[in-house]
Parts: sequence; C-alpha cells; structure tokens
Amino acid sequence: MMVVTTSRHPTAQEEAHARALAEELGLPYVARRGSLAGLGATAALVVTRERLVVHTAAGEIFFHPGMARPRVRELERGKPDVMVEAMGLRPGDSVLDCTLGLGSDAIVAAYVVGEQGRVVGLEAVAVLAAVVRWGLKHYDPGHDGLREAMRRIEVVHADHNDYLAALPPGSFDIVYFDPMFREPVMESAHMRPWRVLACHRPLTRATIAAARRVARRRVVVKERSDSPVFAELGLTRVVGGRKSRIAYGVLDVAGMEAQA
Ligand SMILES: C[S@@+](CC[C@H](N)C(=O)[O-])C[C@H]1O[C@@H](n2cnc3c(N)ncnc32)[C@H](O)[C@@H]1O
Repeated sequence: MMVVTTSRHPTAQEEAHARALAEELGLPYVARRGSLAGLGATAALVVTRERLVVHTAAGEIFFHPGMARPRVRELERGKPDVMVEAMGLRPGDSVLDCTLGLGSDAIVAAYVVGEQGRVVGLEAVAVLAAVVRWGLKHYDPGHDGLREAMRRIEVVHADHNDYLAALPPGSFDIVYFDPMFREPVMESAHMRPWRVLACHRPLTRATIAAARRVARRRVVVKERSDSPVFAELGLTRVVGGRKSRIAYGVLDVAGMEAQA
C-alpha cells in the first residue's frame, strides 16, 4: 500500500500539500515520525520543500527534464529531432501525448509548438501524473525556452482509451504514443522504479483507430526500431531507426497532404 507523507521536519505548507495530495490520490496520509521504513508501507509519496519523490523498493521516482534538455539545445542549433520530424510538428500545432511518463517528449513538443500551440499529456497512473504535474510546474531547468515549454503542458490523469473515446473528431493535430516497450532498450537503474509503477497495457489496433479519429494530421507511435508492434498496429511508414534503436511509426490521416 502506498502512503503520502512529508520530510522529517515539514513546514505547515508541506504538511497541507501532502494532505491535499493524499485526498486527491485517494491514499492515506501518514504523519512522518522517523524513517520511511517505519511507516510500514510498500511505497511512499514524500512531499518535501524542493520536490515530490516516490520511494519504492526498486528506487526513487522524481521529476527531471531528462533528454528534453539536450534535445532542445540541438533544436536551438538548428539540428533535427527525429520525433519532431515524425510528427511533422510546426509552431501553433496541438499535440495529445497519450503516454506522458516523465514528460520529456511532451516538453520537446511544447517547445516546438510554442505559445500558440497546445500540448496535453495523459498519464494513466495517478501518482506518476501528480509527480510530473508538480515537476512541470515548479522545476527550474535554468533555460527560459525549456521552462516556458514545461509550464505550458496540461497534465491529465486518464487512460488514453477513455480520453480518446470522449473527444470530438479532429481535436488535435497530432496524437502521440510512447508505450512501455515490451523489451526495454536499456535496463537503466534509473527507469526501474518507473517500470514497476507504470501502466504496461499494450497498444491495440482499436486504440490506433480511436487516435486516428481524434487526429487531424498524424498518429505517431514510438517503439524499438526492430519491434513487431509497427506491423501489428498497421503502421507501415516508419521514421528513424537506421542509426538508433528507436523509431516512430507514422499514420498519415486522410487529407493531411492537402493541409501541409
Ligand atoms: C515509456 S513512458 C513515456 C515516456 C515519455 N514519452 C517521456 O518522454 O518521458 C509510458 C508512460 O505511459 C503511461 N501509460 C501507459 N499506458 C497508458 C494509458 N493507457 N493511458 C495513459 N497513460 C499510459 C505509463 O504509465 C508510462 O508512464
């Protein structure tokens, strides 16, 4: 059972924040007395002055912009980004990121679409959505463009199947998926706790059909370049993957050529 608590010597504000999060997430709030192990929980969302951290048996989960930082720097230097190319992303576009995770891809997308664009990120696991929502709002990456991109992302705790079904047709220019890979590219120690808590439901053709209804221009799926998933989902156009172990399956929605 996961609980919500604070650092050892919380301010009144931290305690109120922890109580509010516990209420929002439907988890018990436990006042911190001594070590986390003493709380007798399998995992704990810990509210501190600086950040939210999920402590699990597999390690800690907290927000950081990850690869978004070097990717935005490369874009600033005029270098291409394979995800941005696969999306055909332009300033002013709207993007529905159906698998927000730590938000790195969403940050890069928000940077490219700019102030006139919109990025909504969906995350199925409530505690992960809460950690990333807080990080996107408060973390200072020390870079104006990155900070503004982070602040613009709208985080929604939802399963993308439910969310897509409730949207009117043509609601977003791009609908994007980066599901948990069946075989992780690298079993990095850093990602291990995330893999434990994340939603592992595989994408289905029904989800891609729902995304196609909602997308005005493209549906894009990130996967391992050697993955059978692209063929299984009917994504015949694959971008990238020659020099990288990652590739993007692209579904052009009818009429896209006319709009491009
Ligand atoms: C590989 S991570 C995404 C990483 C992200 N693209 C990034 O740049 O940080 C996949 C995330 O999608 C979430 N997820 C998986 N299935 C989902 C679903 N049906 N609805 C919403 N989120 C889902 C998982 O919980 C996980 O956090």
